[in-house]
Amino acid sequence: MGHPPTTSRKKVTIQTIRALHRRGEPITVLTAHDFPSAHLADHAGMEIILVGDSLAMVALGMEDTSEVLVEEMLLHCRSVARATKSAFTISEEQALATAIRFIKEGRVQAIKLEGGKEMAPTIRRITTAGIPVLGHVGLTPQRQNALGGFRVQGKTSDGAMRVLEDALAVQEAGCFAVVLEAVPAEVAALVTKKLSIPTIGIGAGAGCSGQVLVQVDMLGNFPPGRFLPKFVKKYGNVWGESLKAVEAYRDEVKNSQYPAAEHTYPISKEELDKFSEAIKGL
Ligand code: KIV
Repeated sequence: MGHPPTTSRKKVTIQTIRALHRRGEPITVLTAHDFPSAHLADHAGMEIILVGDSLAMVALGMEDTSEVLVEEMLLHCRSVARATKSAFTISEEQALATAIRFIKEGRVQAIKLEGGKEMAPTIRRITTAGIPVLGHVGLTPQRQNALGGFRVQGKTSDGAMRVLEDALAVQEAGCFAVVLEAVPAEVAALVTKKLSIPTIGIGAGAGCSGQVLVQVDMLGNFPPGRFLPKFVKKYGNVWGESLKAVEAYRDEVKNSQYPAAEHTYPISKEELDKFSEAIKGL
């Protein structure tokens, strides 16, 4: 059943990720946006925790990922880093100067950068500075306008070739792995075979070297009716369970069932009598 959940596993490094890839063992990646979600992902044995800019939409309620500020991302990276004992942590960034800030101030170990051939020179600058970079090709949400919305990429032979060329370009620029998002499974499997670095799939089928999901989505931590991409599998019903708990709390407060005696702190009868006496005349 793979790795058991543990709190005392060894720190995951780039070397660990390379070894998993060499052995053909799927690499597990999950987003986390704050201390509790990172604590959960780390405790459950995720190899990589990604502080993706999906943060903007699922944690900060923004319209799209372009709204989130560097300072906001840094705050969340620091809280994730505090909870992460073993997983390799990665955050989203776009340029060398900010990549350095994310490593130094955000306390992450690597950065993720969306884009293929056009981003290769930037990726090269960052990897040359010694910062590990996770590439991201196929559907790149930051470029949704240029791509005509959230569209599956690589559905034609030419489109698939563009995905492969982008993946090869970011590999050549020094990425240690690359996310393939929303690409037909067969195309992603062929691209994976052509690369020497691992591919991390999201909506790209089981032929990738690893998988990533947005934690809020896979936990089912959202109200009914929200749009979910086809590739998301809901492994839990956190929203439903949380709602039940908050409603039970509301009801118990309203009908004075909570707090009960066991939720209160004791005082000796003698001290209480003394206090009651002292306030009589007030
Ligand atoms: O921002 C993000 O969370 C991501 C993953 C979904 C890959 O880019």
